[in-house]
Order: sequence, then C-alpha cells, then structure tokens
Amino acid sequence: MNILEKLQWRYAVKKFDNTKFLSNEQIQLLKEAFNLTATSYGLQPAKLLVIQNKEIQNELVAHSWNQRQVLDASHLLVICVPKSYTTQEVQNYFNLVQKIRNTPDEIINPFKKFLTAEIEKKTQEELLIWNKNQAYLALGNLLTVCALENIDSCPMEGFVPEKYD
Ligand SMILES: Cc1cc2nc3c(=O)[nH]c(=O)nc-3n(C[C@H](O)[C@H](O)[C@H](O)COP(=O)(O)O)c2cc1C
Repeated sequence: MNILEKLQWRYAVKKFDNTKFLSNEQIQLLKEAFNLTATSYGLQPAKLLVIQNKEIQNELVAHSWNQRQVLDASHLLVICVPKSYTTQEVQNYFNLVQKIRNTPDEIINPFKKFLTAEIEKKTQEELLIWNKNQAYLALGNLLTVCALENIDSCPMEGFVPEKYD
C-alpha cells in the first residue's frame, strides 16, 4: 500500500478486538515515533504513558465518557503535559543538549537566554495551552505512524483529565 492508501485505511476505531495485542516491537516503534515528534523549540514538553493493564483500563472507562475503547484496546497511550512549566525545563533541555551533542556554551547561551525569557513572559495558562498544542502534534504523529504500520487506533478527547490524573 502506498501512503495515501494507508491513510485511507485509517479510521477512528470504535470497537477493538480485545483478543489482539500489539507486540513489544510495535510498542517500541510507537514510543520512538512519539519521541521523534517535532515540538516548538524542541522542548518536548509532553510525556507518553503507555498503559497495558486491564484493571486500570477498566477503571478508566468511567472517566472516558464510558467509551470501551480504553478497555478493549491492546494498549492505552495517554499523552500528558505538565501542569506547571518553568524555566527549569529550559535548563533541563539545554543540559541534555550539552550532554548528548557536546554543544559549546557560546552556541547554547544566547538561545538559552532567549528561551528562558520566552517562558518567563508567558503565564501558566498560556504555557499549558502551548504545551497542549505540542501534545496534539504528537497525537497526529502517532495516528499517522499507526496507519502506516496497520495498527488500529482511536484518538480520544472524550475523557476527564482530572480523573486520569
Ligand atoms: C482530537 C480528537 C479527539 C477525538 N475524540 C474521540 C473520542 O473521544 N471518541 C471517539 O470515538 N472518537 C474520537 N475522535 C475521532 C473522531 O470522531 C474521528 O476521527 C472523526 O469522526 C473522523 O473519522 P475517522 O477518523 O474515522 O476518519 C477524536 C478525534 C480527534 C482528532
């Protein structure tokens, strides 16, 4: 199948076959695809929770507008964003860049200063919206990768985030 055929194959699944399970390789691939999602400035504010636990999945049905997909699907992938976001996140990001890429301070510092100021300018509410936007990018990316891999999926906003917390 070419890419368009794969995308045409995709649909928001309402009824999963609860006897089918994804392999570890498939889950690893989805995790990696999540990590490779583009994010604003590369800050990667979202985290992925991969749930494969029928007891927890069952409990979450009540907090998902009684949608059974969260129970019947092989895995439930919950995209999380931080409730509070500070310049510490920028610090952590650049520490990681330094560790992994060994980028010299003179290259990092101007960008770090700029990004720190950007974060300081925004309210927590604005930062939450900003971070949620990044979560939706990751959701889109995951949906596409699932389609390419013939993995059934259902994007879901129909749940109560406070209860999931
Ligand atoms: C952000 C988002 C949230 C969604 N939430 C739900 C949901 O809670 N439950 C559900 O069954 N479908 C949900 N959907 C699926 C849409 O209803 C579905 O994608 C749309 O009707 C188009 O159909 P298709 O994806 O099958 O082509 C959601 C889709 C998106 C993109």
